[in-house]
Amino acid sequence: MSDGSSFYITTPIFYVNDVPHIGHAYTEVAADVLSRWHRQAGDDTWLLTGTDEHGQKILRTATANGLEPQEWADRLVASAWKPLLETVDIANDDFIRTTDVRHEEAVGKFLQKLHDDGHIYAGEYEGYYCVGCEEYKQRDELDEPLSGEYQGQLVCKIHSRPIEILKEKNYFFRMSDFGQRLLDLYESQPDFVQPESVRNEIIQFVRQGLSDLSISRSSFDWGIKVPWDPSHVVYVWFDALLNYATAVGYGDDPELFARRWPAYHLVGKDIARFHAVIWPAMLMAAGLDVPHKVFGHGWLLVGGEKMSKSKLTGIAPSQITDTFGSDAFRYYFMRAISFGQDGSFSWEDLSARYQAELANGFGNLASRVIAMLQRYFDGEIPVSGEPNEADLEVRTVVADAATNADAAIERFAIHEGVAAVWTIVDELNGYITEQEPWVLAKDEATRERLKTVLATTAEGLRALAVLLSPVIPKAAGTLWAALGAQDALGDITAQPLRDAGRWGQLPAGIRVSQLDALFPRIEAAVAS
Ligand code: MSP
Repeated sequence: MSDGSSFYITTPIFYVNDVPHIGHAYTEVAADVLSRWHRQAGDDTWLLTGTDEHGQKILRTATANGLEPQEWADRLVASAWKPLLETVDIANDDFIRTTDVRHEEAVGKFLQKLHDDGHIYAGEYEGYYCVGCEEYKQRDELDEPLSGEYQGQLVCKIHSRPIEILKEKNYFFRMSDFGQRLLDLYESQPDFVQPESVRNEIIQFVRQGLSDLSISRSSFDWGIKVPWDPSHVVYVWFDALLNYATAVGYGDDPELFARRWPAYHLVGKDIARFHAVIWPAMLMAAGLDVPHKVFGHGWLLVGGEKMSKSKLTGIAPSQITDTFGSDAFRYYFMRAISFGQDGSFSWEDLSARYQAELANGFGNLASRVIAMLQRYFDGEIPVSGEPNEADLEVRTVVADAATNADAAIERFAIHEGVAAVWTIVDELNGYITEQEPWVLAKDEATRERLKTVLATTAEGLRALAVLLSPVIPKAAGTLWAALGAQDALGDITAQPLRDAGRWGQLPAGIRVSQLDALFPRIEAAVAS
């Protein structure tokens, strides 16, 4: 995909009933790493994120806080959700809010089309609803606790809170018409839903048969009005899923829509079903292409449980970034957790990896190489002589790392991508230990060899900085500038990523400059 092809990637839009925790930041970072990678590789990239502001959950939270829902949403977006993007260094291209006029208008058009084409009918809904999930529930999705506060009541298995029983006149989407087409889609496009565990669950769910979906509510009015019946508002998930289309011109700018659509969707596995069943069925009904992919990543676990605000295990992203910085946050979660699987967060693990991998492994390597260039060559990158076997080995490792990382990122295996890049760190550290440039520097007779060794490590760092820039943009940019590459080669983000493994790009004769520790020692004890 190095031909400038479209790479449109989305995060879920987040509920504004509460402030973000590290689970939300995790999705943001993963999407940002993928989009920075593709953007730097020359693909026509677009990263969308935003907020989900309608529905009963937000209405109730706002009311409980004595505010109108719109005012509540405005406050949360300004004070919490947009600042999150700064906190973890997200380079998004757009931020959509479901209360944006552009979104509300396009949702109306979409609904009207489905209505005109006979995909919607009026009916009566009678059943269970969990406001926490904003989802209609079946009996087997509920528990009946034998003890505790809610003993004898029906509670949602996810939120452990009582559900509500609804009896309303609703409009329904004929989703049951699309079961077979969805199964055909999963079959013919096996990577449509990933990872495999999520795909299997989705297929099993659809095979059981789909019901029609209630897509409107009439008992409250915080939502987008149904165009032909303004006494109803659109069901919050139906409204929310459409953000992915309305943000890129659906209903308004067909040219833009054709350029961006279809999308790659990153979601937590808890909401994969909405994205891999309801959403493609909606698109099929409207005659639009289905997404390229729905990737359901795993949960961050704290103390073995899914981290969540409602269970009071939520950790604010700034608790981590204030001490370790945004790069360390990004690196840690992308490296330590196999993307697609659950992963446990612990302060000990974060501190240990920070120290071993970022500070000692990468940071020290960069500082040592720059310091040796300053000490032995007055800061000038020397001309390399003929490479020996060890030098050639470095070149091979760099080339392989670049190829393997790109292939892993293409598969959304972010952890493998980072690990592939890290082979350069290990190789360069081993190379320096073996070549002992400080010994070579003692003898004029080995001066030429010293030049080759330091030119080789500097060029290795050049490739490393470029390949790390989607993951740890700040540190990579600092190293880039210290290498003198900024002046010689231009901005790091303008370096074609798929060419990063090509040897010999950093010109001899340019000057390095002082590099302070990229990942300084953290003295303060970290609270656990
Ligand atoms: N508003 C809906 C999504 C609509 S998309 C059309 C929603 N919002 S949410 O605020 O609850 O955020 C859900 C997303 O946050 C999850 O899909 C996941 O991306 C992320 N996470 C929330 N808790 C998480 C963990 N503990 N671990 C990992 N990701 C988590 O659902």
